[in-house]
Amino acid sequence: MASTINLGLAGFGTVGSGVASILEENKDWIARRTGGDIRIKTVLVRDTAKPRKQTPPPGTRLTAEPSDLWTDPDIDIVVELMGGTGAARTLVAESLGAGKHVVTANKALLAEHGQELFALAAEKERGLYHEASVAGGIPVIAALKESLAANRIEKMVGILNGTANFILSEMTDKGQDFAAALARAQELGYAEADPTFDVEGVDAAHKLVLLIRLAYGCHYPLSSLPVTGISSIAAEDIDFAAEFGYRIKLVGQVRSVSGRIEAGVFPALLPEHYMLANVSSNFNAVRVQGNAVGPVMLYGQGAGALPTGSAVLADVLSLISYDRRPNNTGYQELVLPDADILDPELAGFNHYFRFTVADRPGVLAQLARIMAEHNISISQVIQKGEASGRRVPVVFLTHQARTREVNAAITEIDAQEFTAAPTVHYRII
Ligand code: NAP
Ligand code: HSE
Repeated sequence: MASTINLGLAGFGTVGSGVASILEENKDWIARRTGGDIRIKTVLVRDTAKPRKQTPPPGTRLTAEPSDLWTDPDIDIVVELMGGTGAARTLVAESLGAGKHVVTANKALLAEHGQELFALAAEKERGLYHEASVAGGIPVIAALKESLAANRIEKMVGILNGTANFILSEMTDKGQDFAAALARAQELGYAEADPTFDVEGVDAAHKLVLLIRLAYGCHYPLSSLPVTGISSIAAEDIDFAAEFGYRIKLVGQVRSVSGRIEAGVFPALLPEHYMLANVSSNFNAVRVQGNAVGPVMLYGQGAGALPTGSAVLADVLSLISYDRRPNNTGYQELVLPDADILDPELAGFNHYFRFTVADRPGVLAQLARIMAEHNISISQVIQKGEASGRRVPVVFLTHQARTREVNAAITEIDAQEFTAAPTVHYRII
């Protein structure tokens, strides 16, 4: 590429302004690595008249016309930081079609339309790089695509959403309430435009689908991924988990089970001595278990202007520095095959159950009987509350049981006359 590289930046919000700040602050250092300048030539925004805390660098053209990026022959790399799957999809497709390399932080776009966009990038022999799309500043894409490429990945567990992790950390460590913690995460620029994506596990699901592509070389359709968020987690369950020595975290997990892929996003109890259980605030972490390397832990800030900008610029530098055919997927196949997915009902986990039941003789025995009839073995029990005849929480931890048996036991227990509220259930990993 030329000694001055021109970027077309689509989006000047949290991440876009972070990219501009790093380019300014680390200008000389970056030039030392690339041998030239990186210039933001054009910035695309929705509203050019909007007052901004940070303005694009002097000399940059501000536009609201997307085609200004892909029709400009001087723009080498289009950096998509708008978000969403509508205008962003058109911009990425048109830019690749026009022969531009594309860098994006947009996991929703790639999780939903990755098959089509990666195929187009391969056809045009252009880069479609996305380090910032998973776990913000943590170089997990490069690790899976390059550093761990010789391994078969046995298992991967990640804390993949900074907003959800921030909320759970605030609730666990400070007893803060859910809504206040979410509002603070939004103020800090961690949350998605639609924060239900963060709290309902959708954003983590987008990221997990992208990690599965890289780690297992297959396409796992987003619509097939079981996803549960954190919006209904009660302070009571955080407290019970702590009594047993666990912390509740929103995790994305994928495992290879007899050659099939078993994956999901869900809140889980993690033993408090696990490194993952101690990942707090907006920090993310991914633990990868390779069959040669063993366990590898990647940890860092999963959201925010500068950490995410750092990952965006890593891709830009990588496209500039290696003048070779870009490798977008990490595999020879231009279009990855569909994943061979294990039926989620067959997945085995240890479990946490909180029953709300009448406090009277025989109830505990009946709970234990129903669990035993569904082949679920109890490992620990707590019952709280003293007033006989009142409703009380009873908490069971269990040994390994399959989701199918767990669901059947919950259905049966919730239908009992002694059950006063629906059973709460989490997996333990
Ligand atoms: P943001 O703060 O909401 O900024 C979005 C920017 O894109 C704004 O400048 C907006 O223009 C512009 N934009 C949006 N839709 C547009 C359209 N249709 N046409 C032209 N411009 C448009 O978003 P963000 O937090 O920076 O996130 C950007 C992307 O990075 C998303 O895909 C997000 O998932 C991903 N990401 C974010 C983080 C994070 O920490 N925030 C971390 C990792 C990945 P106006 O300024 O005129 O409104
Ligand atoms: N909203 C995302 C999060 C941003 O909270 O993790 C990083 O992808």
